[in-house]
Order: sequence, then structure tokens, then C-alpha cells
Amino acid sequence: MASPYEVLGVDPDADDGEIERAYRRRVLETHPDHGGSAEAFQDVKTAYEAVLAGEGDDESLLESGEGSSGSDGNRSRKASSGSGSQAGGENGNDDGGESEPVGATVEYLDYEVLADRGWSLDDENLFDRAADADLSSADHGRFLAEPDETLLEAAEKRGFAWPYACRGGACANCAVAVIEGELSIPVNHVLPDEMTERGIRLSCVAEIVSDELRVVYNLKHLPKLEELRLPSDPFDRSRASD
Ligand code: FES
Repeated sequence: MASPYEVLGVDPDADDGEIERAYRRRVLETHPDHGGSAEAFQDVKTAYEAVLAGEGDDESLLESGEGSSGSDGNRSRKASSGSGSQAGGENGNDDGGESEPVGATVEYLDYEVLADRGWSLDDENLFDRAADADLSSADHGRFLAEPDETLLEAAEKRGFAWPYACRGGACANCAVAVIEGELSIPVNHVLPDEMTERGIRLSCVAEIVSDELRVVYNLKHLPKLEELRLPSDPFDRSRASD
């Protein structure tokens, strides 16, 4: 049985940056869409959460124990790198366990529409402009989300193909900007604090914790998110072949 450090392929003395990079690499290697398996993918997610919680030597946490070299040692890590649990600006959530996920009305807008029309995430009437622009249902619209769904799951169950890669909080392919409402901030994510403070969330791991939500999805061209993106996902491939 491998330890969480071994599953991530890092030494117990690795610093937070090394661990975060290892997590992103292992998530991509083990994701079923990239030739891995659901078990190995889940092990990597569990291992990262265990290391963050200071349980990096607890081999009993993992099912299949895939990984590489590691050694003894245990120490407390950041619980959530500061960003996972802090208030996310005016659109943020303190993730303090008080907000229960509820069903919600989600209104969405594709960031490419903003780029094409010269609109900004800071536009006060962004969604009013979208409503007046006669956009396609892929670019702008509404759907109802069930409680306990992540935003990405909710969109996919209603037939939308939003971008993603790892589905584990380790990249920025699924990033959305929260314009109104709240999305949770799980601990296992790699967004820098400045992004969460601006209301950026990862739709693959974030649950809706407000009755209404307005988000801009497909943020791939937003500065500083580009470097956190992983290789092409089905959303990009389908758009490339359009
Ligand atoms: S798809 Fe990678 S963090 Fe959501």
C-alpha cells in the first residue's frame, strides 16, 4: 500500500509548490480521459487532501495505492493554502460549513462572447447586455441545478459541453467567474488567492450555495489562468473541429 506522498510521487520534505505541481501532474496522468483509471484518479485526489491535512503517511486512506517513491515523515500542511477557505471577495464563500448546497437557477454566459464584443467581466449590466444580444443557447441561457451537483456536473446533465480537463481541481480549464451568487471553494484546488478573491471558481469541484447564480464560463483566455490550464479537453477539440 502506498502512502499519499508516494501516490503523488513527492518526498515528504517537498514544499507546497512541489506538492501542488505533483498533484496537477498526477491528476492528469491518472484521469480516465487521459488513459488512467477512476481508482487511481480518486487515490490522487485523496492523497492530495491527506497531505494538505497533514496525513501524508496514512496508507490506509488509499484504495489502490498507485504512486512512486516516497519516504517516512509526516507534518502538517496548509489546510487549504489560504485560498480554499478564505472569503472570496464580494462573490466569495467562506467555506466554513454553514452554507448548505441548495438547488439553484444558473444563468451562464460564454467568455468568448465578451471577448468578441469587447465586454468586460466588470460590466455592471453584463447579463442584461447578453439578454438583449440574441445569443445562442450555448453562449447564454439558464438552467436549474440540483442540490449537491457541482456546477460542471449540472451543466453537463443539462446537455452543455463546458470546458474541463482533470475534473479534480488541479487545472484551470473549468474555471468560471462568479458574477452573482456563490460557489463553494473546496480545499483541493490550485487557484491562487488573487483569483478566488476575484470570484473565480473551478466548476468541476464547486457546488452552488446560493439560490441564484450568474457565471461566465470558458475563461481560458483570462490572464494568469492560461498557465494553469492542462492539455486540450473535449470542449476545445469539439470547438476546433467546428
Ligand atoms: S477540470 Fe481541472 S480543475 Fe476543473
